[in-house]
Parts: sequence; C-alpha cells; structure tokens
Amino acid sequence: CGIVGYVGPSAASTFLLDGLRRLEYRGYDSAGIATQLASGAISLTKAVGRIDNLAAKLQPATSSGQIGIGHTRWATHGKPTEVNAHPHLGGEGEVVVVHNGVIENYAALREHLEADGYRFVSSTDTESVAHLIAYCLKQAEPHAKRLNEKHRHGILVEAVSQAVRQLRGTYGLAILFRDYPGVIIAARQGSPLVVGVGSGEHFLASDASPLAGRTDKIVYLADHQLAIITADSLQVEHRETGHVQHAIQALEIENTDVNLSGFPHYMLKEIYEQPESLENAMRGRLSDEDATAVFGGLNLSAQDLRRINRVILTACGTSWHAALVGEYLLEELARLPVEVEYASELRYRNPPVENGTLLFAITQSGETADTLAALREMKRKGHPTLAICNVVGSTIAQEANGGVYLHAGPEVGVASTKAYTSQVVTLTMLSLYFGRLRHLSFEAGTRIIGQLRALPQLIRETLHCHDEVKRIAEKYAHASNFLYLGRQYNFPTALEGALKLKEISYIHAEGYPAAEMKHGPIALVDEHTPSVFIMPQGPVYDKVMSNLEEIKARGGPVIAIAARGDSEVARLADDVIYVPEVTEMLSPLVNIVPLQLLAYHIALHRGCDVDKPRNLAKSVTVE
Ligand code: G6P
Repeated sequence: CGIVGYVGPSAASTFLLDGLRRLEYRGYDSAGIATQLASGAISLTKAVGRIDNLAAKLQPATSSGQIGIGHTRWATHGKPTEVNAHPHLGGEGEVVVVHNGVIENYAALREHLEADGYRFVSSTDTESVAHLIAYCLKQAEPHAKRLNEKHRHGILVEAVSQAVRQLRGTYGLAILFRDYPGVIIAARQGSPLVVGVGSGEHFLASDASPLAGRTDKIVYLADHQLAIITADSLQVEHRETGHVQHAIQALEIENTDVNLSGFPHYMLKEIYEQPESLENAMRGRLSDEDATAVFGGLNLSAQDLRRINRVILTACGTSWHAALVGEYLLEELARLPVEVEYASELRYRNPPVENGTLLFAITQSGETADTLAALREMKRKGHPTLAICNVVGSTIAQEANGGVYLHAGPEVGVASTKAYTSQVVTLTMLSLYFGRLRHLSFEAGTRIIGQLRALPQLIRETLHCHDEVKRIAEKYAHASNFLYLGRQYNFPTALEGALKLKEISYIHAEGYPAAEMKHGPIALVDEHTPSVFIMPQGPVYDKVMSNLEEIKARGGPVIAIAARGDSEVARLADDVIYVPEVTEMLSPLVNIVPLQLLAYHIALHRGCDVDKPRNLAKSVTVE
C-alpha cells in the first residue's frame, strides 16, 4: 500500500494524486484521498481500481483543500471495495486515517470499541485504528478548546500515542482531525514514512519516490516516532521519550528516474536501463590493484569476514532467485558453503545455525516484511547480518549490521528487472571479495574484473535481440503453459524467466532444472506447451542439448536462448534467441534479458497491464 500527505499553500489534491500514481506500484486495487478546508470541513473521495478512477471521481470540495492525505491499497483485510478503501473515519468523522501495515489485534479492538458505541462500516483493520484514535482523543481533550495551537497539537500527540500503544502489528499512519485543521499527524511502526520539507509546505509519503521533483530535503521517520506536520513546521516525537531532533537528509532521486522518459512502460524502460544500472552497481567497487572488489559499508573487518565459514542468503520473490545465483557464485569463487532460504520460511524455522554464519538479506525495496523478520531473527541469535538492497534508508538497510546498495535507481515496474541483475552483479562482486580473502588467486580475480567491466556493453548488445524476441512472443502468446529449463547457473534464470511470465501475462509457467524435467514436468509436454531452454556454452551444454532432444521427441515446441555462433541448436529448436557469448558464471545476467523481453511482449500481446499486474504489489510489507 502507499501513503501520501500534503500541507501547504497549494491544492493538496494535485500532489496527492500525483504522489499516489508514483506509489501505485505498491498496490492498486482501490484508492482514496481526504482533504480539509481551513474551516475544518473534510471531504473524502474513494474509488475502486486505479488512481485514474479516483481522479475522475474527485469531488470539487476534495480538490480545493490545502491539506490532505491519500492512500492506494493492496487488500489484506476485506475485499477491494469503496467502503474498504482508505481513508477511514473514526468517531463521528472527527478523525480521518490512512494506514499501511497490518493490525493483528484489530478484532479485539473492534469488539471493545463497538461495545463503547463506535459504529463500524468496513471490514478493514484500519477502521479499528481510526475509532481508537477518536476514543483516545476524547479522553485527552476536555480542555483542548481553550488551549493555544502548540498545546492543542500536544493533545493530538497524546491521543495518537495512547492509541498506537494499544496496536499490535505494523503501521504507517497519516491522520487528519476535523476539529484541529491544518495539521497532519504521522506515526510509524514497521512501515516506512518519509517527510519532504519544502518552503512553506510539507509532503508525506511511504517512500521517497513521490517527493522527487518536489523537494530534495527529506526526513526519515523511525519506528515509534510521530511527526506533527503543518505548512511551516515539522516536529518529531518519540511516542515514549518525547521530542526528537530530526535530521534532514538530501534526496538523491531525480525526477526523471520516476518518469517514463519516452518508454511505453516502466518495465521496458527498466529493462533498457540495465547496462547503466549495472555500471552504477560496479562504480568505484572494482580494484585492479588488489584484483578484488571493495565495499564501504560492510562494517565488518577483513579479519571478521575470514572467520565466516557459512553463509545464508535470504529473500523473497525475484530477490530469492538472485540469491540462488549467489549460491553458485559464493561456492565457486569463495568456496563457502551457502544456503538459500525463503525469508518467510526462515523466520519461523529454528534451524541450527553455528557460529561463524553470516546472513545476507537480499531485497530491492528493503521493506519486505518476511525478509525483515528473518533478518531480525538471525540478529537476535547473534549472527552478523548484511543487506543487499536498492532503496537507500529503507528499514532493512537500516537494521542490518551493514550492507551494499545496488544503486539501480527507483524500480517502478512491479515485475523486477534491473534490480535483479544489479543483485546478481553485486553478489558476483561479493563472491570475488570473499574469494580474494581466501583461496582465489590474483590472476583469477583480475580475469573476473575484466569480465565484469565488459558486462554493461554485452547487455547493450543483448538488447539487440528485442525485435526477434517480439516476433517469437507473438508466435507463442496464446499458449497456456510454458516450461523454462536451464542448469547450474541458469537454473535460477529458468525460475526467474518463468516468474516474469507468470507475473505479467498470467500464463502458467514452471522453471525447472533441465535434467529434472524428466521426473514430472515432461508429462506436460505436447505441441501446445513451449519449452524455453537456456543453454549457454559451457560444461553442461551437451547435457542440456540432450534434454532439449527429449522435449522435441515428444513434440514440444522449443525456444532456445543460446550464444551467438551456436549453429547446432538451430537444427533442433523451433526458435533461437542469440545472445553474446560470456563466461558461464556471468551468463545469468545476459540470459535473463531476452526472458524479460519475452514476458513483456507476451503480456502486451495478451492485453495485460505489464507495469501493474493483477493481485500483485511491488513491495509486500505484510506477512
Ligand atoms: C514482491 C514483488 C516481487 C519482489 C518481492 C521481493 O512480491 O512483486 O517483484 O521480488 O516482493 O521484494 P524485495 O523488495 O524484497 O526484493
């Protein structure tokens, strides 16, 4: 879900709608905004579906307020209906709330509040929060009317603090008060919020992307903090310990980073940004002198790192696939035993983890709830934790002992593309670094650095396959099942290629280790079920070729991703997408590019919304 807020001299709805559009990737099944006039009157507009539906429905009164809050939702509790869309009202409408996160004890709160006479209209957890704040406000405010503004704001802080102390779960909240016009109270626990500082105006958002082009000064709120935001003041309080001196930081996102820059979709733009995003991931991190990679933020000495004898990589979704490539890399280059764990599983398992184990949490957003929980669990048990993360200042980046930023720039398309390749290249550099602390020779290090440096240009060349991929996509767009098959380093490529297709075209696709296919998925093969083979040159090429023959023998169409110059594959495959030849270790980076494009064009052909696929969200901040 996404949150925005505005207070200043302009019509709030302009920023709110624009900000929500930029946050739409976090959830987009319904949306709403509330604005307030100087008199205190609050006007609410909500709509099911995309922000455009909301903009089309905007009430004139909602357009004119100079203070407001807004929300785009990814349903957790309750269907995506207008009643369940945020903002939610508390009391008799004196409190207006938008909320990200999940309140675990909402049912108990609701029961108490209903017994107290509060009337609920929705089936959301958020409505319990709204009524609870109204209840706490009533307790706090008997004398409020006679107080000056500062003290009146103190009452709001008191009421919100009282309310949030009773919440179990996670929240990012933005609240308006009918009887206290001109102020937004924001509160955070486990769900991020940032305040943008303008001149005579303030912005609020659940991540920094809506602020690009509005202000370059931002304040990150931390857990348990509340912000009291008016047009010309920002005050931060800790809900237990009182006033906090907040630090204003520079926002590094450029406005163009969050625009389409002439591309029809963010996904395509981000696929095309990969030569550059890989360059950015590597910038300043390759040292010819020592034939290694260098990282500024690991916060662990070389000595500490030499003592590491086991690595756990944890992540969700596409980031989990990057972790799988990382497993092959770390094992080959650093000879370290590696385990890859779904964060959602790791958090509740209690695996025996011996001393000397290092955890990497891999995450584009830095906010994925399961990844955060797995990281906390490992920290609690005393293991060092490092984050590989794209979003600067995100929760996981802050909570890990150290880490590496991807510097891929904002990724807006829900299906991850450039963040994935940046994760893989970062894991390659980390493997080189760990290898050079152990067994890897200077010569091998130098060779890998040379190959890494050549990579952005190779990705540029790979993108030349675009027209061919488009043609092939149109040919197979009507299939209802796909198999993606690859081995070794490209087994994760098969998983990731299949996930891309599933996510945006809604075609069932399975990624499998090519040889394992004969133990089950081969039963799916017929003339309507295409298999995508990832088969770069390398030690297992001939083995993959045998698997390809097995599919052909059963009448299955085959699309092969192969290295330029491979004429053998063309004899057997129905269609071949040629990519530049590259060392096997780096081949996942090259081979995923045509698979991203294939998913993109199949989805387009089927009329799907590639940037905002149904039911998904970019950043899953709930369990
Ligand atoms: C969501 C997104 C995926 C992403 C996953 C992990 O499910 O739709 O694209 O891979 O979360 O996100 P993270 O931000 O932790 O990499």
